[in-house]
Amino acid sequence: MPEDERPDAQIELIVRGMRWEADDVLLLALERPDGSELPEWEPGAHIDLRLPNDVERQYSLCSDPADRRTWHVAILREDISRGGSRYVHRDLRPGQRVSAGLPRNNFALVDAPETVFVAGGIGITAVLPMIRRVAASGSPWRLAYLGRSLDHMAYVREPLLCGPEVTVVAADRDPRLELAAWIGAPLDGTVVYACGPARMLDALEDLSLDWPRGTLHVERFVPKVFADVEDGSTFDVEARRSGLRVTVESHCSILETLERAGIGVPSSCLEGVCGTCETRIIDGEAEHRDSILAPDERLANETMMICVSRSKQPTLVLDI
Ligand code: FES
Repeated sequence: MPEDERPDAQIELIVRGMRWEADDVLLLALERPDGSELPEWEPGAHIDLRLPNDVERQYSLCSDPADRRTWHVAILREDISRGGSRYVHRDLRPGQRVSAGLPRNNFALVDAPETVFVAGGIGITAVLPMIRRVAASGSPWRLAYLGRSLDHMAYVREPLLCGPEVTVVAADRDPRLELAAWIGAPLDGTVVYACGPARMLDALEDLSLDWPRGTLHVERFVPKVFADVEDGSTFDVEARRSGLRVTVESHCSILETLERAGIGVPSSCLEGVCGTCETRIIDGEAEHRDSILAPDERLANETMMICVSRSKQPTLVLDI
């Protein structure tokens, strides 16, 4: 397998350009140092970007997938930064080297008779390439784009977002949008994609409990907070393909425990937001603590993120 196509490949990149896309939002143009082609990606994909300060964060690709020379990611300046946003806004400059994993897509478009997008703030960057793709196909779509003010809303003046399909709500000038009423009752087959602040996504997940299965797809870059989660208990994991059984202690993740036993599993964020460690469940029931799977995907109990999720039963059998 070519080096670049291995799941754990790291691609060396140079910051070719930086510009303000909106107030507090910097758009980075990333290229290979030698200008050669970048890996393919599809709308909805993100990259795990490793910054020179060794912090790794997930950012949606918001450029055109057909452009194989340049990737764009937009980064919001956050007052409470976990190390990525502050570094980019304060220290990162054009010409510096960064690296990224292969594009990964937990937010892929599916064919639908109607596609509904809900973007809060910087969440627009995840859905914009998806909107471009759906609009180009001629399928019906609509977008609710919510933000602090027009000046803080990236791409809000892009021609595609100025049509009748788009409801822009800027908190400093517009009344609050009732999302439940705006979305309405989704018909079977309608798909709702949402990316934005945790509170908005939590509210949509609550709403979606009454929707047909598979309607809601959310993309989160900050780990979800689980109010009802207690400290983990001890359980066993059978790694079926490796023929090994391990005991996962209460203070350890499944991923860490398997790694200590010599079973390497690709991983990146270690906080249940990137999807790199997604693993198929053969038997047992997962206690999901990730920020990727939709409520119905959790119930389906087919896969789990083993960096954060645990087991509800004494034994879990995984396809590893
Ligand atoms: Fe990112 Fe597990 S390593 S979800």
